Amino acid sequence: MSKSFFGVIGLGVMGKSLSLNIAEKGFNISVFNRTGFGEDKVVSDFINENNSFKNLSGFTDLEKFVTSLETPRKILIMIKAGNAIDSVIEQLIPLLSEGDIIIDGGNSHYLDTAKRNTLLASKKLHYVGCGISGGEEGARKGPSMMPGGHFDSYKYIAPILESISAKDKNNKPCCAYIGPEGSGHFVKMIHNGIEYAEMQLLAEVYAMLKDSRNNYEIAEILSHWNTTDLSSYLLEITIDILQKKDGEGFILDKILDKAGNKGTGSWSSKTAFDLGAVNSMMSSSVFARYISSFKDERIALSRAFNKKTISKEIAHVMALENAYRFARIINHHQGFQLIKLASIEYHWNLNLSEIARIWTNGCIIRSDFMEKSVDVFKQHDTYFDDKQIFELLKLSEESIKESIALSLTNRVAFDTFWSAYNYWISMTTENLPANLIQAQRDYFGAHTYQIKNDSLSQYYHTNWFDI
Ligand code: 6PG
Repeated sequence: MSKSFFGVIGLGVMGKSLSLNIAEKGFNISVFNRTGFGEDKVVSDFINENNSFKNLSGFTDLEKFVTSLETPRKILIMIKAGNAIDSVIEQLIPLLSEGDIIIDGGNSHYLDTAKRNTLLASKKLHYVGCGISGGEEGARKGPSMMPGGHFDSYKYIAPILESISAKDKNNKPCCAYIGPEGSGHFVKMIHNGIEYAEMQLLAEVYAMLKDSRNNYEIAEILSHWNTTDLSSYLLEITIDILQKKDGEGFILDKILDKAGNKGTGSWSSKTAFDLGAVNSMMSSSVFARYISSFKDERIALSRAFNKKTISKEIAHVMALENAYRFARIINHHQGFQLIKLASIEYHWNLNLSEIARIWTNGCIIRSDFMEKSVDVFKQHDTYFDDKQIFELLKLSEESIKESIALSLTNRVAFDTFWSAYNYWISMTTENLPANLIQAQRDYFGAHTYQIKNDSLSQYYHTNWFDI
């Protein structure tokens, strides 16, 4: 058989789906999976189950897998992020030749990707950190792809990545070269941060509605929202989830309220701290998942609190809809601001409009608003510079206030909405109490402060102990 154009290492759910997607597009492809760990039959089963694809070859021997590939070799690693990636890279290095390209398609940390990039460049090998979004279905039918690394390597992999990716409304691939180093994985990390907050907002909406309405009624409300500018993939799946029954009962009602996570949300928050950016909504969504995991403590404390009879006011749906619209804009704003700051800090020269474009299809945060964002970032640096969006935020103030007030009356945790509103209040307030913080810092630590309407390079210190 002729050599394969492309190789995939790791036949987990995503690796399998991407391999089939690639095979379906007509590329000759070799796949590899380790043996041991109960995985001895993974390759043979996969090849047997998909024997209609004659362009698919399976290997359990890494050297034979590498030899089966045409040069420059293009190898996509689809295994769990972390040390396992380093171990595969270590095994691959002696088998590869100058100019070969390794692509990491998992959710690796962007700083790990940058380090691996440098290591492989010293060995004259290319390394591409490629964010891939869309879950199992996206991987099979067309994901959104965010490749970052040296631009020279992109031209070798562009034909295959662009062919297997989702397509936007103009039939352009939802895949574009993001930038150097770990920028592809950085952008994917922020995608996930936005995803976390989008999911949490919907969870908080559900929390506000579920005491006064049944799942079908909530689904009906959300279905209406989904016919408006609020339409999104996550809203769509939430509507499905709400209505799904298992025998007599709703599946949702049986699911334990402890949310898991694999780390990209908390990485986004840590990164925001490192870069001096604000992503309060992503962070509050991460904390909401953490709080949910303290189930035993919550059970005990809720019993001790013993206020179950609290009578709940019925949420005003129109206000909640506007509050949701408001909070989503702030979430996207914080996410894109974070990308912008990283781009400046690392000199990545990222194109926000293009990033929004490749997120219009295939990925988890695709939505009508993402479509709009493509144009917003063609003209502006931030959402707040767009007059129409700014006006909409101003007009939504009453609704978000009403929803927050109701969350207090009804004792519904509504943190991510609050984060959105607090951010908006601070950003639209000329004088914050940070003058007091500066005075306190100077008082106990002589950290100095600046003076209003003075030169910004001038710092002052007061001897606060003088009377
Ligand atoms: C995607 C998703 C995906 C992510 C899952 C799970 O874009 O397809 O972001 O990459 O791994 O959503 O993430 P958590 O387990 O952290 O929720």
